[in-house]
Amino acid sequence: MKKWLQFLVLISSVSATSVLLASGGFSDNSTRQMPAVANAKWKAECSGCHMLYHPGLLPERSWHKMMAGLDKHFGENASLDVATQNEIAQFLALNSADKQDNRRSNRINQSIPASATPLRITETAYFTSKHDEIAANTFKRKNIGSAANCVACHKAAEKGDFSESQIRIPR
Ligand code: HEC
Ligand code: HEC
Repeated sequence: MKKWLQFLVLISSVSATSVLLASGGFSDNSTRQMPAVANAKWKAECSGCHMLYHPGLLPERSWHKMMAGLDKHFGENASLDVATQNEIAQFLALNSADKQDNRRSNRINQSIPASATPLRITETAYFTSKHDEIAANTFKRKNIGSAANCVACHKAAEKGDFSESQIRIPR
């Protein structure tokens, strides 16, 4: 490549990065993993039927919608008393994908159209793009069950850690 052309390419990639930074897409101090978060009521009430899903996996509007419809939660009645429901809803909102500054939450958020309010993490474009090489049969293995059982393959999923060193697909 000619020297001047190399320079041009460099300049344009630098400015593309600053546009991303300005739009809040990524930032230098954002961490790769989601931070571990805790709330006793969330842990007690949201881990009885499935693993505990980190709040950074969905935007605030998704958690809001989910918490407002717990009596019809994916065909189950997961209702709570009002005080508990409000506390958990607040905790989820505060730590949701749009309130976090880590790369994964940012990417999840960016993969959801502003007009959509998904209730399933497994239906976000980010999730499908990261798992498109895994066969449907693999998710159905006895030790996994479904794509929603993140913790079967990501052993630190409940802590918000989806790093590659923590992935193991059970046979
Ligand atoms: C009574 C059982 C029950 C309780 C309690 C419960 N859930 Fe669920 N949840 C389900 C079922 C059933 C599904 C759907 C599972 C499936 O089809 O893969 C589900 C699915 C989900 C999903 C979507 C997973 C995905 O990406 O596909 C999220 C997120 C979720 N629950 C969050 C919560 C939160 C937050 C709480 C606590 C307020 C909670 N759940 C409490 C039964 C429950
Ligand atoms: C059957 C096992 C399995 C299940 C279940 C599963 N994953 Fe994954 N996941 C993988 C594998 C394997 C990769 C690595 C894909 C690659 O790098 O090509 C991955 C990649 C990822 C990544 C990106 C990691 C990176 O460094 O780029 C994220 C984030 C992630 N998964 C989140 C989830 C969430 C959230 C759930 C549950 C809703 C889930 N996964 C369920 C196997 C699984």
